Amino acid sequence: VRAIFHAADGASRDEVDVPDGWTLMEGARQEGVAGIVADCGGGAICGTCHVRVRTEWAPLLPEPEPSEAALLTIVPEPSETSRLACQIPMEPEYDGIEVDIPSRQL
Ligand code: FES
Repeated sequence: VRAIFHAADGASRDEVDVPDGWTLMEGARQEGVAGIVADCGGGAICGTCHVRVRTEWAPLLPEPEPSEAALLTIVPEPSETSRLACQIPMEPEYDGIEVDIPSRQL
């Protein structure tokens, strides 16, 4: 499942092939995408895997669980489409999803 990460400076992007069933965060970490820190390893407790999902993709994703929603209220540089990448399981229908990485994480 392809995922495209746009760097905070807007100047570069990483296109990553994420195995089915992995999370967006796991795909980013596997490929060393800069700016996805993921301190807690996917537990939805650190908030350092924050991404802003491009608006055309955001409605396709499941609603955030309460733990994710709570963290999204305190992440730097939030937007209406902010999500934790560790809470996005990559399904085939998300092929080509594009997200923006904030310039800093929690
Ligand atoms: Fe910690 Fe996503 S990796 S919240």
